[in-house]
Amino acid sequence: MYYPDDLVESIREKIDIVDLISSYVNIKKHGLGYLGLCPFHNEKTPSFSVSQSRQIYHCFGCGVGGNVFTFLMEYDNLTFPEAVRTLATRAGVALPDEVNSEEEKRQAGRKKRLLDIHTEAAMFYYSVLKSNEGTLGYQYFKKRQLSDETITRFGLGYSGRSTRLYKHLRGKGYTDEELKNSGLFTFDEKSGAREKFWNRVMFPIMDANNRVIAFGGRVMGDGMPKYLNSPETMLFDKSRNLYGLNYARHTKEKYFLLCEGYMDVIALHQNGFTNACASLGTALTGLQANLIKRYVKQVIITYDSDGAGTKAALRAIPILKGAGISVKILDMKPYKDPDEFIKNLGSDEYRKRIENAKTSFDFEVGILESEFDLKDPEQKTAFYNEVAKKLLMFEDELERSNYIESIAVKYNIRIEELRKLVVKLSARNAGMPVSTTYTKESGKSKKEDGTKQAQEILLTWLTKEPDIIKRISDVINESDFVEEPYKTVARMVFEEYQKTGTISPARIINHFDEAESQKKVAAIFSNDMPVMNFDRAEKERVINEIVKRIRQQSIDRITRNATSTEDLQKLLSMKAELQKMHISL
Ligand code: CTP
Ligand code: MN
Repeated sequence: MYYPDDLVESIREKIDIVDLISSYVNIKKHGLGYLGLCPFHNEKTPSFSVSQSRQIYHCFGCGVGGNVFTFLMEYDNLTFPEAVRTLATRAGVALPDEVNSEEEKRQAGRKKRLLDIHTEAAMFYYSVLKSNEGTLGYQYFKKRQLSDETITRFGLGYSGRSTRLYKHLRGKGYTDEELKNSGLFTFDEKSGAREKFWNRVMFPIMDANNRVIAFGGRVMGDGMPKYLNSPETMLFDKSRNLYGLNYARHTKEKYFLLCEGYMDVIALHQNGFTNACASLGTALTGLQANLIKRYVKQVIITYDSDGAGTKAALRAIPILKGAGISVKILDMKPYKDPDEFIKNLGSDEYRKRIENAKTSFDFEVGILESEFDLKDPEQKTAFYNEVAKKLLMFEDELERSNYIESIAVKYNIRIEELRKLVVKLSARNAGMPVSTTYTKESGKSKKEDGTKQAQEILLTWLTKEPDIIKRISDVINESDFVEEPYKTVARMVFEEYQKTGTISPARIINHFDEAESQKKVAAIFSNDMPVMNFDRAEKERVINEIVKRIRQQSIDRITRNATSTEDLQKLLSMKAELQKMHISL
């Protein structure tokens, strides 16, 4: 479906980017804009900024950026037309009758076929498990004390020792191309199709809507790798799915139990803890945290009690908190994971551990404590400093004060002493600038980078102080920008200013189709410009320098392509003129 620019623009104007993004990401007022933890990469300190005046977002950490449409496209994995439709509904704008484009129809068709393949495969693995051929797999699950009901509920199966799934699916009319895209087979020239999962017990991975989108398969002994998982496909992006969410989302509890693996989730559900889900061995992502937040505001982490599990918990805490979720950590010692714990101590005991779960703060301080030797005065001071840093993270005065008190009591420090330490640290941290990064392009020469940087700085400046365009337009214009995306941005900036006297960054971003360019353009609009706080004389000096540099490069470029001496002479005098020129602000 092709939607006309005007329509797209009218939808964009009705949606406020801060409204939209804050329904997905926890952002807080910060300086002139809003700041939060980036949902597109893992981070502990916020570098995801949203500007209400410019109606754009940009992450200084990973470089993503764009407007309301690109946000939805990236966040919810939507195509542009899908994002337009979603926001049109939100804005109450009527769209012309839906006629999907051919490409869109094809795409949707392909997706549907892949889903069907996964459903077929899950049924196939299940029926193998229940057949004679499946005895080995079935016995394995029985040994792990799974009931028949649980096996059915989670659709567990067994990929046999013969390669029949391929024939089965071909018999149903799926092509090699489709089967290849499913990730369930590998193809090589000599032997043709090979099943990815062979002689493993199978765990279908379902999305929140109960659709099978991938598989995990476990060896039944000690073979390697213990688990084999589907690759990323058109259906499966492991950073935005949680195992067990399809059931956990219906819980009446106010919290989720977050575990590491398949067997933990299944064992917990079988024992009545139907609010368990897992991030499947990968580090928890911001996208997963945001997904959780759609259903609950609290998470109890019940990761393995070994070193790896503890580390994973420490990494997950800031990500969950960044999404606005409160976090507790459950202690399963002396057992390793929920599955083992419940087998040994039962579910009543596990429920008690839930009640006694530590707040993430106490958990983190506990870990810190084990890293320092508190009998050594120097290390003791270092420990207090670390704890004070953690106390700084509480934004709520009262909450912070309560924690200061409890820590002081626990470690026998005078309350006032600890309070002072926290205040001292907070003074030192105040006014720390958010670091900005220019996109570094490796492999390009310094000079080329310099050229681009000058163009980028000038464009950034013009979008923040459009009236400067009047002052510089005698010396420089859009034709001096030759490389994309600067060329198009410059053209739109000059045009828009001429027509309306202002510049709309979000509108300009819409002009770029590719995520790469959108990122670059959003960066142009979001760069920090310390120069804006300079006094006028200093600003004037800088603008002269930048404008001249860009113009100079432009003249050099034309000079390289000049063919007549006449042209060359003209260019030389232009160059001399440029040196004499002065822009005043
Ligand atoms: N995992 C994986 N690939 C591996 C190992 C682990 O994908 N080679 C993922 C699986 O999702 C697994 C989770 O990480 O469920 C946790 O790993 P682990 O603790 O080793 O497995 P358990 O869930 O405890 O499995 P089991 O009880 O069957 O040993
Ligand atoms: Mn485990």
